[in-house]
Amino acid sequence: MIDELTFKPHLLKWFEKEQRQMPWRETKHPYYIWISEVMLQQTQVDTVRDYYHRFVEAFPTIEDLANAHEDDVLKLWEGLGYYSRARNFHTAAKEVVAYHDGIVPQQPETFLKLKGVGPYTQAAVMSIAFDLPLATVDGNVFRVWSRLNDDERDTALQSTRKAYENELAPYVAQQSGDFNQAMMELGALVCTPKAPLCMFCPVQMHCEAYERGTVLERPVKTKKLKKKTLNFDVYVIQNQAGAYLIEQRTASLLQGMWQFPMVEHGANYNEAEAIDIEQLIIQRKNVLKVKHQFTHLTWHLNVHTATVDEATEQMITKGRRWMLPAEKENYSFPVPMTKIFNAINEAE
Ligand code: ADE
Repeated sequence: MIDELTFKPHLLKWFEKEQRQMPWRETKHPYYIWISEVMLQQTQVDTVRDYYHRFVEAFPTIEDLANAHEDDVLKLWEGLGYYSRARNFHTAAKEVVAYHDGIVPQQPETFLKLKGVGPYTQAAVMSIAFDLPLATVDGNVFRVWSRLNDDERDTALQSTRKAYENELAPYVAQQSGDFNQAMMELGALVCTPKAPLCMFCPVQMHCEAYERGTVLERPVKTKKLKKKTLNFDVYVIQNQAGAYLIEQRTASLLQGMWQFPMVEHGANYNEAEAIDIEQLIIQRKNVLKVKHQFTHLTWHLNVHTATVDEATEQMITKGRRWMLPAEKENYSFPVPMTKIFNAINEAE
């Protein structure tokens, strides 16, 4: 059973001793904490460190971010995935500058209205930067709290999240930033999904699931997202100068990032698009197959390469561009496109 008097001190004592060093834990600046929390959604701490340093260096103030070009923001996000996070954060920075004098709002309700800020980001930034009494409920906290209470409620439901926020409220009345981070850290280091280290758990004596032997059955999560597979032809077309034809994505996934022209097969096959590309190609080889796994989506890419002459080059339309290999770093490419670029350049 959770003893309200001793549970929190046990957890905080452990956190003080065992927490990992993180650059954003050395500041109370809300903008820096916000950067880290946006990056940490869906991404591991070890991956985020380098991205965080580069981002802070490029945009040391929220004004710098607000004034940045979207391409430069996406470039710094390249490889982190979930690019809408970056676009929304960029928009939110502009909102802070335009409507709040460049100061991150300290009222949780006001902060929540900014683009991309949901209940998790709201609670994380408000508690860590300002010690306001809001509980963060992320995947780690769902796991830790459901095990501590041996709770069978479905954590995929919004109603369960609300219930957890309410149940955690007494613990975030004070020192909310430390408490929230301690819960997440415990979930990341000890109370892990498949092989939890219960023998080293500072709150084992409070854990109902441990007592009943149901740790691996918690949390209960029913909603399963079906994985989807899409197939594309990708055209790596070079001109006589050795530059590659690239285009900017308009689809909501990875929107604004650059790619080699690609045409989807199956239900979304667009014949006009395919003919537009294929008429450019003089020689064509099927050189490479690339598979890339997103969280709920797999891309199978069938890569063709071709070289075009100058006359054909003139036919390029629709905002496509020629990019020399040395210019690759000036554009943000999704990971599967970089895989293709590297494979082709290594082969040459
Ligand atoms: N996951 C997301 N934000 C975190 C934080 N501040 N500490 C530990 N884990 C986290």
